[in-house]
Amino acid sequence: MKVTVFENERVLARTLAVQIAATLGQNPSLVLGLPTGRTPIRLYHELGTLHHAGQADCSRATTFNLDEFVGVAPDDPGSYRTFMREHLFSRVNLDPARINFLDGSAADVDAECRRYEDAIAAAGGIDLQLLGIGTNGHIGFNEPGRELVGPTHRVRLKESTRRSNAGLFGGDPTKVPAEALSMGVGSILKAKRIVLIATGKLKARCVDRVLNGPITTRLPASFLQVHRDVELMLDTAAAGRLADRV
Ligand code: GLP
Repeated sequence: MKVTVFENERVLARTLAVQIAATLGQNPSLVLGLPTGRTPIRLYHELGTLHHAGQADCSRATTFNLDEFVGVAPDDPGSYRTFMREHLFSRVNLDPARINFLDGSAADVDAECRRYEDAIAAAGGIDLQLLGIGTNGHIGFNEPGRELVGPTHRVRLKESTRRSNAGLFGGDPTKVPAEALSMGVGSILKAKRIVLIATGKLKARCVDRVLNGPITTRLPASFLQVHRDVELMLDTAAAGRLADRV
């Protein structure tokens, strides 16, 4: 895995936004996989800034978000869809018809997961998958456990994950749904290129384990080691435990 360390979050976000804009210039029909969480917010705002400066055209791009809460409608204030509308979709010129999201309010969530896998395949697969990482090593909502599910599926969230998502639900972890739909580790690994971004010292330990530890279902992000085109973009705090190694 390639590792790039930036002096701070702002430079990381700006650099990645410029790279994505350039990739869109070369391939306007780019298929992007997108994460939520606090980490990509700066990146999304930078993309918005580049778009307003005429330097990022998303009009022909397609996006697939990684995950969504079960039982939460797309227009619910706590939904990941609402988060993405606020931080990215309202800031760039994506065609709403090419924005893809799991519908957590679907009556048949298993059918919804199958529909999503089919939609990714019909789009030709994901060209560039962006990822954040949970402090327990989760990617998307693939939580550590005895086994991982490959394709898009329904997941039960860990209490720690519900706590870290409480901000979307008025700060109350008990209001965070107990379940979510998520692209699986298999769906993620099918992407042609993967860029994982991690910032802050809370992520330092799991970043070190992802790079230097064993591949284990106890740390879902460790499976990125088997992909041939993965880059970890880190700030100095998240890279803090790698100091002796890189
Ligand atoms: C959530 C998301 C993940 C994200 C993670 C980290 O649980 N489902 O996709 O990577 O949180 O979030 P943050 O960037 O806020 O640390």
